[in-house]
Amino acid sequence: MKKQDQLWTQAYLKLKSQWKLEPNWKLIEYLHLVPQGPVLDLGAGNGRNALFFAELGHEVDYVDISKTYSRRMRDRAKDENLELTAHNMDIRDFEVPEKHYVLIIASKILQLFPNADIEKITRKMNAGLARKGLIYVYTFSVENLKHSKRLHELEQVEENTYYHRKHRQHFHYFKSDELLSHFSKLRMIFYNEDSVHNLKKRNSRYLFVLEYLGQRIR
Ligand SMILES: C[S@@+](CC[C@H](N)C(=O)[O-])C[C@H]1O[C@@H](n2cnc3c(N)ncnc32)[C@H](O)[C@@H]1O
Repeated sequence: MKKQDQLWTQAYLKLKSQWKLEPNWKLIEYLHLVPQGPVLDLGAGNGRNALFFAELGHEVDYVDISKTYSRRMRDRAKDENLELTAHNMDIRDFEVPEKHYVLIIASKILQLFPNADIEKITRKMNAGLARKGLIYVYTFSVENLKHSKRLHELEQVEENTYYHRKHRQHFHYFKSDELLSHFSKLRMIFYNEDSVHNLKKRNSRYLFVLEYLGQRIR
């Protein structure tokens, strides 16, 4: 087994056994393209990606609005002696240093904002990439709108953007070309539209997802 394969296998097994977490598989598949250096995980949640890269020895900035998740992440970073900084804040307020990160992850987060915010966030993501750095996005497609049975419960505020009053949350559904347009200056490494069976919800159903990986070339 090659040294890099040994490293990710160890990190992966540790995440699985210790915290029952699993990173996005595309990040493992393209791990060989991730240079040494700092990683940013936006809306990082339970830390499945942030912890994986910290275990691999990257310095990681974890950003999430949830106090509970952020506290848990701080504790884990301390216990495991990881170079992971948990920033408990809104990603819209997080100052992304220019040309700094070798990888910026936005998994299941960009859909939670209206257009103007998505524009600002993706602009900061692009500016924050170091040369040869990568942007990874996992989000939801407009296809979901054709199959949703609960759209009437939501208020449409923009094209393909809805507002959920109870949860005080926007939900934006991306068209393919729209998502790609935010990263038009990057070299596309991987792009896929897929449907996944969501078994966790009470009314299990298919979700239509978009997954993107791009690399800064200049
Ligand atoms: C669906 S989870 C995705 C978590 C993780 N990225 C993953 O792929 O498993 C969305 C996360 O975004 C966080 N979040 C929602 N709005 C946010 C905001 N405005 N700023 C920072 N984090 C936010 C939530 O607390 C939650 O942990």
